[in-house]
Amino acid sequence: ATASEPYDTVIIGGGPGGYVAAIKAAQKGLKTACIEKRGALGGTCLNVGCIPSKAMLHNSHLYHQTKTDLQRRGIEVSDVSLNISQMLKAKEDAVTSLTKGIEVLFKQNKVDYIKGTASFLSPTRLSVQLNEGGEAEVEAKNIIIATGSDVTPFPGGAIEIDEEQIVSSTGALSLPQVPEKMVVIGGGVIGLELGSVWSRLGAQVTVVEFLGAIGGAGLDEEMAKQFQRSLAKQGLKFLLNTKVLSAEKKDGKVYIKTESAKGGKEDTLEADVVLVAVGRRPYTEGLNLDKIGVELDTKGRVVIDDQFNTTIQGIKCIGDVTFGPMLAHKAEEEGIAAVEYIKSGHGHVNYLAIPSVVYTHPEVAWVGKTEQELKAAGVQYNIGKFPFAANSRAKTVLDTEGLVKLISEKETDRVLGVHIIGPNAGEMIAEGVLAVEYGASAEDIARTCHAHPTLSEAFKEAAMAAYDKAIHF
Ligand code: FAD
Ligand code: NAI
Repeated sequence: ATASEPYDTVIIGGGPGGYVAAIKAAQKGLKTACIEKRGALGGTCLNVGCIPSKAMLHNSHLYHQTKTDLQRRGIEVSDVSLNISQMLKAKEDAVTSLTKGIEVLFKQNKVDYIKGTASFLSPTRLSVQLNEGGEAEVEAKNIIIATGSDVTPFPGGAIEIDEEQIVSSTGALSLPQVPEKMVVIGGGVIGLELGSVWSRLGAQVTVVEFLGAIGGAGLDEEMAKQFQRSLAKQGLKFLLNTKVLSAEKKDGKVYIKTESAKGGKEDTLEADVVLVAVGRRPYTEGLNLDKIGVELDTKGRVVIDDQFNTTIQGIKCIGDVTFGPMLAHKAEEEGIAAVEYIKSGHGHVNYLAIPSVVYTHPEVAWVGKTEQELKAAGVQYNIGKFPFAANSRAKTVLDTEGLVKLISEKETDRVLGVHIIGPNAGEMIAEGVLAVEYGASAEDIARTCHAHPTLSEAFKEAAMAAYDKAIHF
C-alpha cells in the first residue's frame, strides 16, 4: 500500500528522542507518523533501560533497607524474604503502563503509529516491513532518524551474550533468581546500577573495570573515589585497572580471564552470572543509509551539523544514534529542537547543561564541568563543599552519606559545575542545571531562600561556601 498524501514529518524510532519529536511535531500542526519496530513505544529507555532499571533499583533498595537498616530506626520486622517474580512483575507493570501511555499520547496528539521496520528507498521515501506482515511505503518531506543504540558486544567475539548466564543489561533486568556470584564487566553506569541491584538482593558482586576509576566518563575524580568507597561499604568488590580478556562457560559456571590493564598478571574469576556492560553503540542496521548517502563517523554515529541535519537534505538525526551523551533526556531535548528547526528554522539544546545521574544509593549526579576539566583548561575557580552529615534533614532521616560540591569561576562567581553524592541527588541536580542554564552565580544561589529542613539546604550552603562561608560546616 502506498500512503496517498506525504507526511510533513516521519520519525524512525519510538524511543525518548523519537516519540517526543513525534508529539511535538503533531502539536505544531505537522502531519506526523512514527515508525517503531519493537511492538511497543518508549524505545530502550522505557522497555529495557531507564524505567525497568529504576523499578529494580527502588525495590531492591527497599528490600535491602528492610533487612539491614530498619532496626536502628526502631522498626522490628521478621521473616523478610524476597519474592523475585513479584519484583520482576512490578517492574513489568511500570513498563507496560508507561509504554501504553505513549500510545494514548499519540492518539490524543494525532500521531500515526506505524508498527514496523523502516528502510530508506530515497531521501523522502521509506519502505516499512510491517510487524503484522506485508510492506508499506511512506513518503515524507522531513524524516528524523531516532533509531537509538544497542549493546556493544565484547570486542573480538571473546564473550558471547546468551542473556541467561552471560547477560547484557537486558538480561540483567530479568534474572529469574539471584545469582550467588556475579561478575560485572565494566564499572560504568550500567555496571554500577545493575551491580547494585543484584548485590542488594544477595549476590556477591565483583566489578571489573579497565580504567583506574569507576563511573564512566564525566564523573569528577573526587566524587568517583567517594562513590566507590560507598559502594564498597555495601559489599561490592572492585578490580580497577583490570581488563577482561574472555569468559567461558563450563559446568554451570562462567570463568572470566582478566589481566592487569598494563599487561601481564593474569587471573581467573568464577561467576554464576556475568554482566557485560562495556558501553552502547549507535544502531543503524537495515536503514540503508549508505544507499542514500547519509554519512556515519568511524564510531558508526550518524554525522549531523548543529541543526541536526545529516549529510542528506531533509533528513535529520537525534538521540543515541548520533553524537553526545547517550541519555534519554538529551534525546528528548534534541527531539523538540529538531522539530522546531523543521517548523520555524530555530531550535536549541544547551549541551553544557545536561545532567547525569546514577541511580544507586546514595545517588550520584552532576552537571557542567569537573574540577579536572577546569584545571586542564587553565580556568581559575572556587570550590564550595557541604557534606550531608551537616544537613539537618539528612541527619533526621539517617541518610547522611555524601556531599554537594559546587564549582564557580573565580573572577565572576558564575556556577561552572555541580557534583552531588547523596540522598535524592538526582532530584537536587535540577537546581544545579537551572543555575548553569541561567548563568547564575554562587551568590545568587546562596541568597535564594531554601526551605528548612530540606536536603536542598546542602546545595545552598555549598554555594555559600563557594563565594563566602557556609553556616553549618
Ligand atoms: P532508543 O530509546 O534506543 O529508541 C530507538 C528505537 O528505534 C527503538 O525502540 C528501536 O526499536 C527503534 N528502531 C531502530 N531501528 C528502527 C527501524 N529501522 N525501524 C523502526 N524502528 C526502529 N538514560 C537516562 O537518561 N537515564 C537513565 O536512567 C537511563 N538508564 C538506562 C539503563 C539501561 C539499562 C540502558 C540500556 C540505558 C539507559 N539509559 C538511560 C539510556 C537511554 O535508554 C537512552 O539514552 C535512550 O533510550 C535513547 O533514546 P533514543 O530515542 O535515542 O533511542
Ligand atoms: P559506559 O561507557 O558508561 O561504561 C563502560 C565501562 O566499561 C567503561 O568504564 C570502560 O572503561 C569499561 N570497559 C570497557 N571494556 C572493558 C574491558 N574489556 N574490561 C573491563 N572494563 C571495560 O557504558 P555502560 O555502563 O554500558 O552504559 C552505556 C550507556 O548507557 C552509558 O553511556 C549511559 O549513557 C547510558 N546509561 C545511563 C544511565 C543513567 O543515566 N542513569 C543508566 C544506564 C545506562
